[in-house]
This record gives sequence, structure tokens and C-alpha cells, in this order.
Amino acid sequence: MKMKIAVLPGDGIGPEIIKVALDITKVVCEKFNHDLEYNTALVGACAIDATGNPYPESTHKLCMESDAVLFGAIGSPKYDNDPTAKVRPEQGLLAMRKQLGLYANIRPVTTFPSLIYKSPLRSELIDGADFMCIRELTGGLYFGRPQGRSEDGNTAYDTCVYSKYEIERIVKLAYEYALKRRKKVTVVDKANVLATSRLWREVAKEIALEYPDVETEFLFVDNAAMRMIQWPKDFDVMVTENMFGDILTDEGSVITGSLGMLPSASIGIHTSVFEPIHGSWPQAAGKDIANPLATVLSAAMMLEYAFGLKEEALIIREAVNASLDSCYVTQDIAKDNMPYYKTSEVGKWLIDYIKNK
Ligand code: IPM
Ligand code: MN
Repeated sequence: MKMKIAVLPGDGIGPEIIKVALDITKVVCEKFNHDLEYNTALVGACAIDATGNPYPESTHKLCMESDAVLFGAIGSPKYDNDPTAKVRPEQGLLAMRKQLGLYANIRPVTTFPSLIYKSPLRSELIDGADFMCIRELTGGLYFGRPQGRSEDGNTAYDTCVYSKYEIERIVKLAYEYALKRRKKVTVVDKANVLATSRLWREVAKEIALEYPDVETEFLFVDNAAMRMIQWPKDFDVMVTENMFGDILTDEGSVITGSLGMLPSASIGIHTSVFEPIHGSWPQAAGKDIANPLATVLSAAMMLEYAFGLKEEALIIREAVNASLDSCYVTQDIAKDNMPYYKTSEVGKWLIDYIKNK
């Protein structure tokens, strides 16, 4: 198969973790005889430094012309601590999501047997947890206007906006996934307070009628946050708006054992983007210590979702599981008093595993 991917390493640890994920993708493509073409482009703080724009037009063009985008992470303390900064790296990520029409962010939350003890949650609660959070990604508070400050600077406002069609398409997607899984959808909202949530619930109820084989459950987000760590095995497919999904998926990483393990796929109208859910961890940049597995697993999602390459994705997941079982991992998920390895060493281990498979 001919595959053209755009590689956007971004900031902080982005380049290191992307290198591992890309090297693994190359090896898998060699092994299965796929013709991989990749091009690298700037996004985030490094793009601001180089061009003044966190998502330059040239980067967008490359994404549009590619079959998939492999994305690292963005963000830099240089901008975080400067409330007056006019452009921020995060705007690059948001602009990319908006311009590519990536309205659905799919974040699988699963456990890895050898990491169960790493979770602060009791193992019997999380062992076997396996759900999927589908986060709306191009609406809500992240994009609603007006947003800003009053003239005197003493008041700030964000606006949460959702239209019916935005809710319909994401809720439908959730039901389609549920059909292929354990046939349960949990709609998470705050319909007791927010008008947008009431519209979500209304629309979701209509769509639920089209899927009589799927069980539907409605939860308020505060309750969902609690139930997620109390009874994570109750969930199959969770669907929610942008901000709630952002918060709940970080919470979900506690079930997995580390934020460094959760991949994601963002799909929608144009080219899909595959990225770890964690940030750019600027303090670790260049130190070769970051856990590359969330990005490696994102590459596996890319092969499966964007190219339909199930076997290729599986071999990557197998390699990741084998590295966990062999305790050949970075510090964040290393067992107490066990040796741990550098980002690049873990990458090399995974590549050797795949080559010898
Ligand atoms: C994520 C991140 C982003 C988000 C930030 C970096 C803008 O936290 O992908 O979850 O809030 O969506
Ligand atoms: Mn987040």
C-alpha cells in the first residue's frame, strides 16, 4: 500500500517520542511491504518562533495532502507564563483540529496487565476495564465566541456553543462504535445546569431511538468523573463535549497507570490526526526520558484507522505489551527498584522485537 503521512513533532518531548513512533512505523512498513512517504512540518511554539504562526499555512497544506497526520505534542512554558502573549502554541493545535474538521477525538482507555499495580486504584476495580471516550473536538468552550476580556480587564468570558448537527454527528459515531463493542453508550453532560447540555441530551435521546440494540445511559459530568474511577468497568463508549472530554480523559489515564500510555485518534472531515493525549513536558525535552508508548500506540491507531492495516497495528501493540512484560520501559512506568531505560532505548527494543517477529 502507498501511504503518505505528515509528521508534526511539535515542542518539548514531541520530537523524541515522534522519532520512536516514526521509526517503528517505518519498520512495520518495511516488514509488510508498504510504501511509506513522510514529510515533517512545524506546529506549536517552534512554528511561532520560525514563522509567527503556530499552525502555518504550509503545515496545513501538507496535512491536507497527506493520508494521515502523526502528531507529537505542543506547548512551551515561554508562553504559559505570559498572559499577554498574543499567540500561543495551543492555538496551533486548535487551528489544526478546526481546519481539518476533526470533530471526533477517540481515546481508548484500557489497562495493561503489567501496569495494573501502577494505578493508585485497587487492581480488582480496574483489571479488565476497557472503554472508549469519544470527545467532541471542534465545538464548545474551546471555540465559542465571544471570548475575551472586558475593556477594563476585570472580567473575562468564554462562550459554550453547540449546534444540533455538531451533536448529532458525534453521538451517531459513538453509537456506531458501541455497535461493534459491548453496545452501551454513556452520554456525559451537565444538563441540570447548562443549556448546551440540554440540547446534547435532547439530540442524544433522538439518536438513541435509531439504535434499539444499544443501551443508553445519561450521566452528569460530576457523577461520571466519580463513577469512572469507582466502577470503570461499567463503561463501554462514553461520548461528551469538548471540555468535559478533555478533563475526563486525563482522569482515564489513572486507570491505565500513566498519562504516557494513552493514544488518540482525531477524525472528521479531512485528514485524521493521531496523537498521544499527554502534553509536551518541556522540563524533559532533550533528556531522552519521556515515555514514547502513547505515541507508538497512536501510530498503531493510525495504521488501523487511516489505512485499515489491522495486522500491522496488532504487531505494534504486541511489541508494546512485550516491552511492558519485560520491564523494558521508561522511568514513569518502571517497577520500584527496577532499572529503567531511555526513550530511544525503548524505541530500539520495540524495533528489534518487531524485526524478529
Ligand atoms: C489535549 C490537550 C489540548 C486540549 C491542549 C494542549 C490545547 O490538553 O489534547 O487534551 O485541551 O485539547
Ligand atoms: Mn487534555
